[in-house]
Amino acid sequence: MCGIIGYAGGKQAAPLLLDGLKMLEYRGYDSSGIAVFDGGEIKMSKAKGRLENLDEITDGGKKLHGVIGIGHTRWATHGEPSDINSHPHVSETGRFAVVHNGIIENYIEIREFLTAKGFTFKSQTDTEVVVQLLEYYHKDDIFETIRKTLNKLKGSYALGILAAFEPNRFFAVRKDSPLVIGLGKNENFIASDIPAVLKYTRTFILPEDKDIIVADGKSVCVYNTNHELVERERLNVDWDVESAQKNGYPHFMLKEIHEQPKAVEQTVASCVKGDKIEFENVKYSAGFVKKLKKLYIIACGSSYHAGMIGKYFIERNCRIPVEIDLASEFRYRRPILDKDTLTVVISQSGETADSIAAMREAKTHGSRVLAIVNVVGSTIAREADDVIITRAGPEMAVATTKGYLTQVLTLQLLGLYLSDKLGLNGESYRTYLEEIKRLPTAVQEVIDNKEQLQILASTYFGNDTAFFIGRGNDYALALEGALKLKEISYIHAESYAAGELKHGTISLIKEGSLVFACLTSDELYDKAQSNAEEVKTRGADVIALVKKGHTAIEKQAKHIIELPALSDEIMPCVAAVCLQLLAYYIAAARGCDIDKPRNLAKSVTVE
Ligand code: G6P
Repeated sequence: MCGIIGYAGGKQAAPLLLDGLKMLEYRGYDSSGIAVFDGGEIKMSKAKGRLENLDEITDGGKKLHGVIGIGHTRWATHGEPSDINSHPHVSETGRFAVVHNGIIENYIEIREFLTAKGFTFKSQTDTEVVVQLLEYYHKDDIFETIRKTLNKLKGSYALGILAAFEPNRFFAVRKDSPLVIGLGKNENFIASDIPAVLKYTRTFILPEDKDIIVADGKSVCVYNTNHELVERERLNVDWDVESAQKNGYPHFMLKEIHEQPKAVEQTVASCVKGDKIEFENVKYSAGFVKKLKKLYIIACGSSYHAGMIGKYFIERNCRIPVEIDLASEFRYRRPILDKDTLTVVISQSGETADSIAAMREAKTHGSRVLAIVNVVGSTIAREADDVIITRAGPEMAVATTKGYLTQVLTLQLLGLYLSDKLGLNGESYRTYLEEIKRLPTAVQEVIDNKEQLQILASTYFGNDTAFFIGRGNDYALALEGALKLKEISYIHAESYAAGELKHGTISLIKEGSLVFACLTSDELYDKAQSNAEEVKTRGADVIALVKKGHTAIEKQAKHIIELPALSDEIMPCVAAVCLQLLAYYIAAARGCDIDKPRNLAKSVTVE
């Protein structure tokens, strides 16, 4: 979704803003723009489409002179992607320029209010009302102007603001949309996300809702709603700059797939101490865990798929019922939960709007909230009662890989942690733990065997449909495998619980249909094999994913992919990597824009 950046310092702002926006590309966008103070005037450039267009019309930023500026990548919500609708937006007199991430829910009402006062609007965006309100309310005190404007707004926003009469600094505010302040040496930044400015600083301030931020090259001041100067939480991130660069890989996604052995290793190292699991910020007593009547897992997208694997693992090993819901459903369902329910919110970004709202809803029921989040300092990480940080490092490709895998692993580790508290730490506990310690090697093995996957991709990349089937964990994997493929290759991919095929979907199977059959569970192998037989009989080409040596499926499968053999419960950690690689190579063979798939955003910060 939209990305914001702001700069104040001694360097030329425009090239730096463009560079920061490049680092935010992964959020998804369809136009971009920058504004800088140039000789006391606000000068602006905007362009529809890729950032290269903006880069070209500004000659890499050289055409805009000035050391203070704001920039934006827009993911269209109100009004088509166009030069006019892209940000920054300027007020009628040109006194204010604004970039915005979020949605102003009452923008129609404000637009009518301002139109009645004689204002005219150029764009179809909700954002333009913000800049016109600033104009409308402005008398002499800029703080008063911003406050009055904020009081009128309903919805979510992170805003970067330039005021022509304040050419030595910029302003910013946020409410329910991500924004961090980066502290550099004689330069300061705002950004929607840490990677945008990781090159320049690793020290961040996390502003709170409705704080007003004022930044120049020397200092950053944060004022609360009572206009008191306040100190806000500081964060030093240990992500390295390289982790947010492609480092020779053609795409971030491929690089991030290859980073998984390390991500797994870091996740394990962060919490496995001998035969015990200890989380830095989760300290549940045995009494608390024994009293739990239910766990409620809430997430969106791939995080939801990870949650399904977590549900199966925790139910099996802790014998606590686990309900799982999509955040967008949960928040309007009038969910049944209370203080004896532990709510687990899973989110790579920690900024997904529906997941934030669902977390807040769960809290109103008295439920304790545990967040599994990758981005330190994100909204979910800050608002949850307890947090486990997944150790994936920055994830830039829209399609999650290492983020998802570390979520799955963290949920398994959480399951082991809870089972230990319940005294259920018998033989399977030790087996799982041993296998988890060997996972980096097993994941590496899948990556090293990529050639077979490349060959399969080059055979099947022309198909326009694919089916993914499986039972239990393999069903959860099928969901993720299909999502990955459709996200980046635009092949219509569907996933089904294998046992459900006969209830309708099998009517779609015909000669040459491509079916990925996930058969990584010993317990359900025979059942899933029968389902593979059903589709093969109807002409499908079956590609089966199995544990090494478990090749009884050769009668049904045209191709077999053998994976390192682990317990059924841990197999998703290796099988997921294989499905990611398959999706990647198929998308690459189709020439798709893998890191920036059409219409998708990495961080979905609007409902
Ligand atoms: C977007 C991303 C997905 C992600 C989902 C949930 O759709 O493209 O990769 O799984 O949001 O995001 P979260 O950050 O909450 O895990």
